[in-house]
Amino acid sequence: MMANVIAWANTKGGVGKTTSVMLTAGILARRGEKVEVRDMDPSAGATKWKKMAAESGNPLPFPVVSANVENVSDPSETGADWVLIDTPPLESAVIQAGINAADLVIITTQPSSLDVNRALATAETVNGPMAVLVTRVNPNTVAWRDCKELLKEKKLPVLESTIKARESIRKASGTADIPHGSGYEEEVDEITSFFDQAEAE
Ligand SMILES: Nc1ncnc2c1ncn2[C@@H]1O[C@H](COP(=O)(O)OP(=O)(O)OP(=O)(O)O)[C@@H](O)[C@H]1O
Ligand SMILES: [Mg+2]
Repeated sequence: MMANVIAWANTKGGVGKTTSVMLTAGILARRGEKVEVRDMDPSAGATKWKKMAAESGNPLPFPVVSANVENVSDPSETGADWVLIDTPPLESAVIQAGINAADLVIITTQPSSLDVNRALATAETVNGPMAVLVTRVNPNTVAWRDCKELLKEKKLPVLESTIKARESIRKASGTADIPHGSGYEEEVDEITSFFDQAEAE
């Protein structure tokens, strides 16, 4: 069976790509799925996360491997059924290779107009299925309301699940912890149902 390949992307930095990849991987692994994370970012946030978790004595339940424009589309060497790709900010050739390798692209953004505009530009480089994931949401703010308006106006597919701004999510960095009520469980439900539907078609 071919693995389900998903890439998280936005040319904008600091929008929650690495956090989303790692928590999504952790949730899939906890559900008994075979997952592999591919770190395409030269600053190696996912790889550092893995090392920190291992050094703390509570290692991640899935492998994190380095990937580049040459090998990102290769079959999994760890036997994974889910390949989650973390892409860097700014480096468009690397981001594009990650996007091209994926069956589904999650355009990750924070609810600021700057970040959403970068998300829109990133979305234009995607040919296949994609969905926007909004992270670090503070409900009941003008920024969040404006963000929803803008995404609707631009007719981009948006995941129903949103990720709230939470200290527990920030603190999960470098650990194998999955914070409760983060929104990532619902994100994983949406992702798995996307692949269930794709398989049925
Ligand atoms: N939902 C959240 N609530 C609070 N803090 C968050 C949340 N998501 C991410 N963060 C924090 O925001 C910072 C940036 O997140 P992250 O590293 O995941 O973004 P990124 O898009 O991968 O960044 P880069 O483009 O630099 O690789 C990190 O310190 C992370 O812990
Ligand atoms: Mg990152």
